[in-house]
Amino acid sequence: MTLKRLLIQNLRNLEGVDIAPSLQVNLIYGENGSGKTSILEAINLLALGRSFRSHKHKPLINHQHQSFTVFGRVHADDGSEVPIGISRSLDGDASFKANGVLVPSAADLAAYLPVQVINSDTFLLLEGSPKVRRQFIDWLVFHVEPNFFPAWKAIQRCLKHRNSLLRRDRIDPFELATWDKELVGLTDIIHEFRTQCMAQFQETFAELLKEFINIDGIALGYYRGWDKDKTYADVLNASFERDKRQGFTHLGSHRADLKITVNGLDAAEVLSRGQQKLLVCALKIAQGYVFTRITGRKSIYLVDDLPAELDEKHRALLVHWLDTMGTQVFITGVEPETLASSWRDKTKITPKMFHVEQGRVTEVS
Ligand SMILES: Nc1ncnc2c1ncn2[C@@H]1O[C@H](COP(=O)(O)OP(=O)(O)OP(=O)(O)O)[C@@H](O)[C@H]1O
Ligand SMILES: [Mg+2]
Repeated sequence: MTLKRLLIQNLRNLEGVDIAPSLQVNLIYGENGSGKTSILEAINLLALGRSFRSHKHKPLINHQHQSFTVFGRVHADDGSEVPIGISRSLDGDASFKANGVLVPSAADLAAYLPVQVINSDTFLLLEGSPKVRRQFIDWLVFHVEPNFFPAWKAIQRCLKHRNSLLRRDRIDPFELATWDKELVGLTDIIHEFRTQCMAQFQETFAELLKEFINIDGIALGYYRGWDKDKTYADVLNASFERDKRQGFTHLGSHRADLKITVNGLDAAEVLSRGQQKLLVCALKIAQGYVFTRITGRKSIYLVDDLPAELDEKHRALLVHWLDTMGTQVFITGVEPETLASSWRDKTKITPKMFHVEQGRVTEVS
């Protein structure tokens, strides 16, 4: 998958952007506050329907306007081209389009544009809540297993019903048994999808990790969300009193996590900040490789302010792996020379350079 054309209207300070990105490497430079991150944000919006900076859509809309639009022409790996677009207005209206047709949700766009983001928040993957790591696992599962998302949505619905039942004064045992049965069935499906993906992921990650960081004893384990020696049905029964007391379902696939340890200790508590960044880079690159191996497709990488996050040696390392993967990348930075030199010296690719000035974007040779 590559983005052949990108149009942005009234997103933050980007009032009218129209660029034809390189299908390989795009370097975006400009002063602080010029709009670089907003370009990556626009691509992420196309890919996921949401920003990586804000859960609200109002801050995204340019102060002088009522709505923003992002449009992209996606070049699929089978050679076909798909126009996709998203727009959101101040009154809360959202529209998502693919191939000229309105689609119900952002999830319907997501399959067209698999995107990986590497920014300062990504580097908190180890320290952050399990939700962040669960999203990391599920990115891969979503993109390789078409039946994952419907099951995931059904489980959210099921948990909502079960939790509201738990909060009632009188719990009808028949009603509870009905929700439990559905929850157990869906949980098994989700767990099976995640297990299959994680097995492939762990293998690739172990190989790549050595390239990024030279520390023994790093292990990556998938925690399913409940005791692995018990069936989920038994766990639900056993935790019923606690669930009822606190009004929600404690255990299940919604508690899954990625346990990253160094000699059995939590990696976030052992590794230095720089080592954590390298570990996260290895996770992100492994994700792209596994995605390509399973689907034969490629994911786009958005890397925000690369020079600020990694030193020269490790920047070169990340560039090397992005280059080896041969995916389309968008990288931002303040200094054009620092950005360009990582590619010029290390790869055979001539990147496209874009200069951003007060929300205006121009391609420079
Ligand atoms: N809703 C909005 N309407 C207009 N301008 C906005 C809006 N939201 C943010 N801005 C401005 O848009 C600009 C875009 O910021 P962005 O984060 O993309 O810059 P950047 O080039 O990545 O900067 P840095 O190098 O500091 O990371 C900023 O100047 C910001 O103040
Ligand atoms: Mg920025």
